[in-house]
Amino acid sequence: MSERTQVGIVGAGPAGLVLGHLLHLRGIDSVILEDRDRDYVEKRVRAGVLEQGTVDLLTEMGVGGRLQREGLVHHGVELRFDRRGHRIPFDELTGGCGITIYGQQEVVKDLIAARLETGRPLLFEVDDVRPEGLDTDRPTLRFRHGGDERELRCDFIAGCDGFHGVCRDAVPDGVLTRHERAYPFGWLGILAEVAPSSEELIYCHHDRGFALHSMRSPELTRLYLQCEPDEPIESWPDERIWEELHARFESEGWALKEGPIVEKGVTPMRSFVAEPMQHGRLFLAGDAVHIVPATGAKGLNLAVADVRVLADGLSRWFSNQDDTLLRSYSEQCLGRVWHAQYFAWWMTQLLHRMPDDGDGFQTKLQRAQLSHVVSSRAAATALAENYVGLRR
Ligand code: APR
Ligand code: PHB
Repeated sequence: MSERTQVGIVGAGPAGLVLGHLLHLRGIDSVILEDRDRDYVEKRVRAGVLEQGTVDLLTEMGVGGRLQREGLVHHGVELRFDRRGHRIPFDELTGGCGITIYGQQEVVKDLIAARLETGRPLLFEVDDVRPEGLDTDRPTLRFRHGGDERELRCDFIAGCDGFHGVCRDAVPDGVLTRHERAYPFGWLGILAEVAPSSEELIYCHHDRGFALHSMRSPELTRLYLQCEPDEPIESWPDERIWEELHARFESEGWALKEGPIVEKGVTPMRSFVAEPMQHGRLFLAGDAVHIVPATGAKGLNLAVADVRVLADGLSRWFSNQDDTLLRSYSEQCLGRVWHAQYFAWWMTQLLHRMPDDGDGFQTKLQRAQLSHVVSSRAAATALAENYVGLRR
């Protein structure tokens, strides 16, 4: 079976779904292909920090209703080290800016509902997606769906299929330059059915390793522990997790509340950028082309920022065949991407225990940096501006 669309979008994560909706609002048709089922995509627990620019875009797109009602607006975070907390007041340091805590899977649910409402195609459980003809002006996506072999002829393909997707690898050898750092640790993340123990996020530096207190709602706490990158989840029974969390977060007059653990997983920490973010008629966006370690909370925001630029470029092209914006897509995005890479790396090296730190040199440097950040307004402002997403 052969069909046609203007933009073939691979992947129904935040990047693919936001792109599909932005294109819809400009009257451009697209087909979104997703290899998982709807339930899986909607339940997958991921990041949860939205910059104001991301909230504004979702709101302008008409998908911000529930986000406005249920999102938790935060105006600061705590940095905890040597068992003491220090607040970084974002609003005071950035002229009123903050962040919104709203789970990525909630964003995805809202976007899927909006997509279905438009009546435009979003196919789940597609198999074996093959991007072809990228160097021609009629690129094609071949795939299988419901047992049928299908062919989708497109004007453009958007590779929004995440780090393990197929689009990046469809680019011929030698075109992309890859920059990568794998960190010698991962994050064990849990979701617990208990009210958060703090009103704001806590980034905690400890000799036993980094820990993060976050949340999803007034009834759900999200917690992370630095662990080995390939740590089998079986080696972390619930009791061990709580014991370790209590030890790392320990601080006078503060107690971590426990509750039933309803989700558990290990994520490796990595920095990755492939550039340029385009080849022929294929445009790569989001995790398909860059990964930032989660310490800076930038992954989702970067994915959304990419497709905003891409939607503008595509819309210009479809209205008058002007490819100026599309040609500068990669360059426009990469400035932001590398800035976020820098900030995420900076937060990561500041807060994690380095496994090769034999004589404790790195730990001493981290403490010196942390003391500087919490005692110098200039240093705290740099963190705050980067965290809330204020750029130049
Ligand atoms: N064919 C179709 N779909 C695919 C394929 C494939 N071969 N491979 C992957 N996918 C789907 C995945 O199942 C997923 O739903 O592409 C989607 C990619 O979504 P994300 O991984 O969420 O990536 P992105 O939309 O770029 O969002 C980035 O996700 O990993 C987090 O923290 C990261 O917040 C950031 C955000
Ligand atoms: C989360 O709530 O999942 C979260 C918050 C802050 C981070 C990373 C993840 O830096």
